[in-house]
Amino acid sequence: MRIPIIAGNWKMHKTTQEARELARKIKAGAGEVSHCQVVLAPPFTALSTVASEIKGSKLILGSQNVHWEPKGAFTGEISAPMLEEIGCRVTIVGHSERRQHFGETDETVNRRVKAILQSASLQAIVCIGETLAQRESGIYHQIITQQLAGDLDGLTRQDLLRIILAYEPVWAIGTGRTASPETAQEVHEAIRSWLSQKFGNEAAQTVRVLYGGSVKPDNIDHLMRQPDIDGALVGGACLEADSFLRIIHFKA
Ligand code: PGA
Repeated sequence: MRIPIIAGNWKMHKTTQEARELARKIKAGAGEVSHCQVVLAPPFTALSTVASEIKGSKLILGSQNVHWEPKGAFTGEISAPMLEEIGCRVTIVGHSERRQHFGETDETVNRRVKAILQSASLQAIVCIGETLAQRESGIYHQIITQQLAGDLDGLTRQDLLRIILAYEPVWAIGTGRTASPETAQEVHEAIRSWLSQKFGNEAAQTVRVLYGGSVKPDNIDHLMRQPDIDGALVGGACLEADSFLRIIHFKA
């Protein structure tokens, strides 16, 4: 059985003070949540504040990126050992905003994934998804397959156990235009079938594939009823405790 994951990607929002307040409210409202794992991915500057705020709870700390080297002359970057030390257990990589604005490629995503696998305790949330133009021209399956092949290049079946995928159609991110649950399910199924061909059916059945793109309290339940949707990567709706808590407490 795949335990669902609801991950909040705070993006470039919340000062440390605001982060503390939000984490506190989420901790209070999440209670002893056991039907899913809940990840909070604040900006780097708020990681340690959120880490101390959620200590002793089941909430999991995540970061929004990681560099592939453990240390060195890479101004402005953060490494996996630094994230582990602060209490991170999950790292988002390859988000479409990084691909779009910061030159992220499948090759650099792959290097980051490998750095995460080198660490003792981090898991990766690897984001993939097509643009509107790619969807409309009907090549989205090809794009997804290309991203999967590049991002997961060189990984073993064992490595796959530490990978979480997030299908995030770019046209649905921050636009209020969610993929319908059926549209998302169709891609999730294709992702699992690709994983099965590459890594075997058993491994493919264990990987959690999250959906992301305008996930809100009013569409989470329907999304979670799809057989291959194992959770959500939430942007806008994770910035308010009430809406994020409603999403965590989805009714599948
Ligand atoms: P959104 O963002 O929920 O605001 O669409 C999702 C994401 O970018 O991970």
